[in-house]
Amino acid sequence: MTSDTYVGAIDQGTTGTRFMIFDHGGEVVAQAYEKHEQIYPEPGWVEHDPVEIWEKTQAVVTEALDTAGLDAGQLEALGITNQRETTMIWDRDSGSPIYNAIVWQDRRTTDRVEELEEADKVEDIRAKTGLEADAYFSATKAEWLLDNADPLKTQRAQPADLRDRAAAGELCFGTIDTWLIWQLTGNHITDVTNASRTMLFDIHDMAWDDELQEEFDVPGEMLPEVRPSSDDDFYGTTDADGFLGAEIPVAGALGDQQAALFGQTCFDEGDAKNTYGTGSFFLLNTGEEAVESDHGLLTTVGFQRSGEPVQYALEGAIFVTGAAIEWLEDVGLINNAAQTADLARSVDSTDGVYFVPAFTGLGAPHWDGRARGTIVGMTRGTGKEHIVRAVLESIAFQTRDVAEAMVADAGLDINSLKVDGGAVKNDFLCQQQADIVGTEIVRPEVDETTALGSAYAAGLAVGYWDDPEELRNNWRVDREFPADDDADVDGRYERWSEAVERSRDWARE
Ligand code: G3P
Repeated sequence: MTSDTYVGAIDQGTTGTRFMIFDHGGEVVAQAYEKHEQIYPEPGWVEHDPVEIWEKTQAVVTEALDTAGLDAGQLEALGITNQRETTMIWDRDSGSPIYNAIVWQDRRTTDRVEELEEADKVEDIRAKTGLEADAYFSATKAEWLLDNADPLKTQRAQPADLRDRAAAGELCFGTIDTWLIWQLTGNHITDVTNASRTMLFDIHDMAWDDELQEEFDVPGEMLPEVRPSSDDDFYGTTDADGFLGAEIPVAGALGDQQAALFGQTCFDEGDAKNTYGTGSFFLLNTGEEAVESDHGLLTTVGFQRSGEPVQYALEGAIFVTGAAIEWLEDVGLINNAAQTADLARSVDSTDGVYFVPAFTGLGAPHWDGRARGTIVGMTRGTGKEHIVRAVLESIAFQTRDVAEAMVADAGLDINSLKVDGGAVKNDFLCQQQADIVGTEIVRPEVDETTALGSAYAAGLAVGYWDDPEELRNNWRVDREFPADDDADVDGRYERWSEAVERSRDWARE
């Protein structure tokens, strides 16, 4: 055991939970990861068990500390980053969830969103929240839970009228950051970035919106307090009698995509990053201005440090990228993700095959909840390598869709794009990405920038790091992928766009 100190980051993602311990240089000292169950009760529905998530969180924190031979007391602060929008409700007294968490990918409230469209409420929602009305966000999920959570089904006894209980302050609404902060500190708190993904929060006033609470019938009494992403006052401390056996300040929280923006040190207006996880999320820092999108992007909160103005971002949210590689594995076309680069390189092209991974509808810039996964252009000669290559190319094409919207909205050229997340280990994908968007791709040494970003937010709050400048010095390039100007991409991009059209409006009730 050493007497040095560190900062820990809990990264609670869609498929699993990671705990990472970082040193002063932003280097990873130890980490542990565990997957959790994906629950698909009906087609288009996706749930997680919040109790399992909390158990796995404790397990990975303990395991990483043990691996590094560290004492919890050597952690100066804890940061949290999380899958965003995933929504849950729990009992304030017992701490028991009333139902599973409804995951961001879940489409069960698509009808409700169509009602909002028919009632012409979409513009008003966009003006306040910066979001495209969609089942992706928390508001319709919270409404569904209050309308439908069946306490008997979940074996968690609750009186029947959840809305009365919510209005009486007996229930807590939360995204996953809120759930973990609650478990760690006992306080009911969320950060500004997570609040901005609920579709209940006014990103200009930086407050829960009364009219939206009324629209979705979500009582204000159940909403958490909203605090900066890096909070000098801390959200609370862990309990010396709890699983860590030490009082550690929980001082930073950001939704995972905003955490990656922070971890990539995209602190200034014009800085951009794209993270390749289950989906891909391309964020451009727009400084203190909340830039409205005319091209299907989201306006969202980027981050906020205590006592400083909110920094906004434009976001291109692509629902399925890395999950399409997982799907290749699920259906037995590959054994593991690492194979995809060689398989894709084994052919010169997809031979005209296009794959649109609209498994959970299409997000930015199309916003079509009824789009579904589509493969077009197959012939008798199509082999699995063509399909694998088409899947990798679909990741790059979807990023071009949002990059074009970004350029149109923000009125600036993207000369260089920082990338991170699991899939950027794949050099073939990075090069395709550079060629298809026509911009240089820059991969940093630490590609787990999501966890790093929340560690930075927490560490800045407790003074472990002095200022953002110090963090910038920690950021180092692993490899740059310049765009090949001779790559023949425009014709292919046009065909891609036609394939997207074919995937649209497919699912029926
Ligand atoms: O908005 C959804 C996003 O936060 C999920 O990210 O990395 O868990 O797929 P990830």
